[in-house]
Amino acid sequence: MVLDINIYLILISLSAAILAGLLTSPFLRTRKLSFILGAVLVALGFYFLQNGGSEQVKTTAIYNLSSIGLGFGLVLRGLVRPNIHRPKYSNQEAVIKDEAVISIRNISKDYFNGVKTTALRGVDLKINKGEFVAIMGPSGSGKSTLMHIVGLLDIPTSGSYRLAGKEVANLSPSEQAEVRNRDIGFVFQQFNLLPRTTVLDNILLPTIYNNSTGSKDRALEIINKVGLSDRVNHKSNQLSGGQIQRVAIARALMMNPHIILADEPTGNLDSKTSEEIMAVFQQINKEGTTIVMVTHEEDIASHAKRMVKLKDGLIISDQIRS
Ligand SMILES: Nc1ncnc2c1ncn2[C@@H]1O[C@H](COP(=O)(O)OP(=O)(O)OP(=O)(O)O)[C@@H](O)[C@H]1O
Ligand SMILES: [Mg+2]
Repeated sequence: MVLDINIYLILISLSAAILAGLLTSPFLRTRKLSFILGAVLVALGFYFLQNGGSEQVKTTAIYNLSSIGLGFGLVLRGLVRPNIHRPKYSNQEAVIKDEAVISIRNISKDYFNGVKTTALRGVDLKINKGEFVAIMGPSGSGKSTLMHIVGLLDIPTSGSYRLAGKEVANLSPSEQAEVRNRDIGFVFQQFNLLPRTTVLDNILLPTIYNNSTGSKDRALEIINKVGLSDRVNHKSNQLSGGQIQRVAIARALMMNPHIILADEPTGNLDSKTSEEIMAVFQQINKEGTTIVMVTHEEDIASHAKRMVKLKDGLIISDQIRS
């Protein structure tokens, strides 16, 4: 009965079907699936071609040939193409693995209140996942401005900021807040603790906005990590400066951020307490968190693996500690 059909019609339908099979195959998750589906279509096509009724032979044969062709295409492509790999991790994490987590290009920041103040004038900075970077420089050189931009608390006047591979320089305030809550922990001096509230409740604060479950156990674990286990139920007015700073660090860690930004985290602390805070930072960094820390003090900066110096809104040196 095949012979009844115009040979061109056979050729056209077969090649169209094979082509369709070749094109469809990549949409199937695995090569095996493509192969099996193709084989079934070929078998069905041949079966009905052999056993089809005598009426409307021409049309039925075309359908069967198309099925054979489609199946053949799937089998062929199934044999050669790679499987589609669906990564187990989200895109976000995949990008963090491959690219600098913070990538700032030609960032400038002008403030206008009556007069124009240029705080940053074309800063380029790349920070990889797991780095511990100290930012230094004289008062007014733009360190806090840079930290605010990196932390998505402010937007640059111009330039590009890619966070984990995604352009974030011009997000809306609500988009900024979302990224900030997910990826960044802050230890800023102006981020005060709630007064007359216990250490535990202060640390649980970020989870209130995020409906996290199992938060209390995690908070206690973090309190232990920053060495405040014996102060869980102390209120914030019953703590020393160093302890307050540990609470701030614990609070920053609570949402498990990829990045910790700290602006003068040891600003008002004596040198012994400062060393203790640095030990906590080093431990967190060892566990994989990227840390960017502003400090005025050389010995505090020496805890970081890399030191970036700013002057008049520009990076004037960038050194890795040997
Ligand atoms: N909100 C603002 N409005 C206007 N000017 C600002 C504002 N914030 C910062 N500036 C100016 O931008 C420049 C950089 O300020 P920034 O706070 O980044 O400096 P800094 O390096 O952190 O200094 P410090 O070591 O004293 O904290 C300064 O000249 C400052 O006066
Ligand atoms: Mg500052």
